[in-house]
This record gives sequence, C-alpha cells and structure tokens, in this order.
Amino acid sequence: MQEWLKDSVFYEIYPQTFYDTNGDGIGDIKGIIEKLDYVKGLGCNAIWLNPCFDSPFMDAGYDVRDYKRCAPRYGTNEDLKNLFETAHQKGMHIILDLVPGHTSDEHAWFKESCKPGHNEYTNRFVWTSNVWDSPEGYRFVCGTTDHDGNYMVNFFSSQPALNYGFHKITHDWQLPADHPDCIATREALKDIMKFWLDMGCDGFRVDMADSLIKNDEEKEGTMALWQNITEEIHREYPKAVLVSEWSCPKRALKCGFDMDFYLDHWGHGYHSLFREITKEGENRSFFSKEGKGNAALFVKEYMEDLLATKHDGYISFITCNHDTPRMSRWMDERELKLAYAAIFTMPGVPFLYYGDEIGMPFMEGLVSKEGGFSRTGTRTPMQWNGEKNCGFTTSDAPYLPTGKPGETVNVEQEEKRADSLYHTVKDLIALRHKYEDLQSDGSFEVLYVKENEYPFIYRRGNLAVMFNPGAKPVEASLPGVKAGQETIYSIGEASLQEGKAVMGAQSFALVRM
Ligand code: NOJ
Repeated sequence: MQEWLKDSVFYEIYPQTFYDTNGDGIGDIKGIIEKLDYVKGLGCNAIWLNPCFDSPFMDAGYDVRDYKRCAPRYGTNEDLKNLFETAHQKGMHIILDLVPGHTSDEHAWFKESCKPGHNEYTNRFVWTSNVWDSPEGYRFVCGTTDHDGNYMVNFFSSQPALNYGFHKITHDWQLPADHPDCIATREALKDIMKFWLDMGCDGFRVDMADSLIKNDEEKEGTMALWQNITEEIHREYPKAVLVSEWSCPKRALKCGFDMDFYLDHWGHGYHSLFREITKEGENRSFFSKEGKGNAALFVKEYMEDLLATKHDGYISFITCNHDTPRMSRWMDERELKLAYAAIFTMPGVPFLYYGDEIGMPFMEGLVSKEGGFSRTGTRTPMQWNGEKNCGFTTSDAPYLPTGKPGETVNVEQEEKRADSLYHTVKDLIALRHKYEDLQSDGSFEVLYVKENEYPFIYRRGNLAVMFNPGAKPVEASLPGVKAGQETIYSIGEASLQEGKAVMGAQSFALVRM
C-alpha cells in the first residue's frame, strides 16, 4: 500500500466550476494553481481533478475526444505540468480522472472504427455483425454510421464502449479478452496512463472501473484485466496510486487498486449513514437529527469489507461527488459537522468534494448542463466571496449560476465565522494529521452499535470516537471504561464516564482511552 496515502486527505475539484482566471466563465487549470494554498490550508494534501481532457462535453468531459490533450477551455498540457510541479513543491499530490470504458463519439479511434469494412480500429469498439443485428440485453446505437453494424454504448449514446473483450461469448460478434484487438485496447490505455504519469501526475481516479469486460457478472475478466494493468503501472511508477469507481472493495482492492470509493447506492452501508432519504422525503440517515437511522446496517457491511481487504488497500469515504446531491440538501450545519466528523475519523482515505467545507447548497431547478441532468445542482461554481458570481468568475455568463451573494455561503465569510462548518472541517482534518491512530491504516473496532439505536462509538487505536447525531441525549454502557479520560475534541456535550458514554443531543467527541 502506498506510503503517502496513510496521511492523505483528498479534495475533489470539478475544473469547470472551481476558479476562472481568464474571465471566460469557465474554471481553468491556472485557477486551480492559484487556489492550491487554499486547499492546502484546509489540510487537504491531495487533489482528484475531474476530467480535464479535450472533449465535446456531452458528459462534462467523461466523453474524451483526445486523452493526451488538456481541454483548451481549461488550458494547455504545459499548465497541467505546472499544476503537478507546483503541487509537488507544496507537498501535495494530484490525480487525474481516467475514463477507460468509453470515448467520445468524436474520438479519432471511433471515427476510424465507423468506416466501412475492417481497419486497425474497427474492433477498438464493440460492433454487432450488421445493422440488423441488435441483440437484447445490450445498449446499441443503430444505423448512424457507414460501418455495417451497431455500436455498443457504455453510458450516454455519445460514449461508445471501448472493446476489452467479453468474458462469456454468447454471440459471434463478441471477441474474447485475449483477442489481439482487445489486448491492443488495453495497451492503448496503459500508454495514456504512462503519458500523464511521465508528465508528473500522481495517479488516477478510474471511472466505471468495473465496466470494462462485458458479459462478466462475477467480474473475473475485469479483475484479471485490472491486475494486468495495475501490476505494470505500480512496477514502473512505484508511487502512483489508483482509486476505483467500483464501490466493491472486495473486488477492486484485490486487483491492484489502492483505494475504492464507497458510493451512494440504496441499501448500502455508506448510504445508510448519510443519504437514506425515503421516497416520501423522510430522512432515515443515521446522521440526521431525526434519530431514525441504523448504524448497525453500516457496521455489518463495513466490517466485512474492511476485514476482507485490510492488506490490499483502502476504502474511501466521500462527503459527496459530482454525481450525487450535496448532503446540505437534507442536512443542516450541525448535522453536517457530525457527518463529516465520521468521514474524517474513519480508516481509509477520505475525499472532500469542493464547496462541501462551507456547506455549499445543492442548487434546485437548474436546466441540465453538459449531460449533468439531475446532477447539475451539485456542480455549481465554488463560492469564494460576496462579490459578483461569488468571486468564481468576472464573466457575465458563468458556466452555471452561483447563489446570490448575501443570500448564500462563501469561503471568505465562513473563514471569519468562528464556529462555521469550514472551521470544523479544518479542525477535523488537522486532528487526523496529528493523530496517527486516525489515519488510513490505523486500527478500527466498534465499541457500541445497536440496531436502530444511538449512539455509535468506535475505537481508533487509543482514541474513542463517539457520535450521537440524534436530537435526544443518550447513554451507552461501555464496561471497563474509566472516568476522567481526556476529551481531545468535541461538538456539543459528550464524555466517557465510569463504564459508560454520556452524550447530549447532536454531539461528537474524540476521547483518549
Ligand atoms: C461516472 C462519472 O462519475 C459520471 O460523472 C459519468 O457521467 C459516468 N461515469 C460516465 O463516464
């Protein structure tokens, strides 16, 4: 496991809406460089940068037209190189977003692939035998090219699936993963990774990592493919890290990913802590003050994953990402403080989504932008100050609107407010850096959890981490615990007493044991 991940806290940056330095209404790489000190000041020492490659932006850049070229609207490859170098000088790391499952339909490989007959790139994508052949169970775009076949898509229709082969062959147009043309796709992917690693980036967040080999229910083929790739990348670039969008650590970390995200899938452990909102709008997340959550659901799944992967890599908790609503949509400031306290005191490598540190709102009712649809409200510009466009851009046409200065939060104001969420985030990250027990590979043991009850208490090395997000005070029996332990940090009233934890409404404490 990568040494530098032990004490890493990542900050996710959506380049189009972080900071615009040239006044065109869209964030840019120079803007990120300018704000590195801000990110570092929060305590984050690594950045995940969402796709910044040349693209027609039908899916906000997850539709790559040229994997080796920075999107001109963000800057140049030279700017990216500068970003890597400046970050390194400040002791920070930068990972890029790798999209291996599909390209844009404007990618040169795809244009070649669409030509009639057979050429070097025909099989770079997945085609049926002819346009009349459109088997059920797959998603195809039909009859739009000169090539006599329908092409498979991996996400939107503008994102043709790259061909790494099929695990089970069920039709004559499917190639096995060891077909030379599928191996050529794999090698082309490695070539892209090496291109950016050679330029100085520190690794990749890997988009839809589980989607590469088709007809692969148990993911055996996909895991073998990643084993091949991660082995080579780690051998040639021993410090590079890879984090997968898979949300199945038992698989992802076994095939060489250094980290895997817990994402918000209904019924998932992570979801039940922070994002369990019923269809009727009732908040049943454990971290809601309603007190209707169930941390035991999380513990069951998490302990299994943690034990199964403990020597392989890290599970990453996120405050949010560019695909999910910000938690501020259903949580107030106090609830967010407690929720983040969990995210920053768990094992594994935590990720903070830009703007979450100030509780930026999820903006309702926006028209979809660049394939954002329901995700658009979570992608609005960073709110830096109380000026025009909250200081994001001087342009009259920002990429997306910000809240109205004066009516919404901004960094400048939250820095000044002593008890703001921003300061809690900074404190929590600082504690994580200070106490090795709280870092990625520190031990984890549940001290108190009961079905549908509060509080939830766990132990990290010599520290007890205690949560009572509910609005009612609670006590929990903890046999053997002595009174008079030092409280290192707390929100609200919470302490360890003789044989028990005593917790006021909506409280959190970090106590030495
Ligand atoms: C997952 C990414 O996070 C999302 O934003 C994107 O639309 C899809 N993968 C397709 O690449």
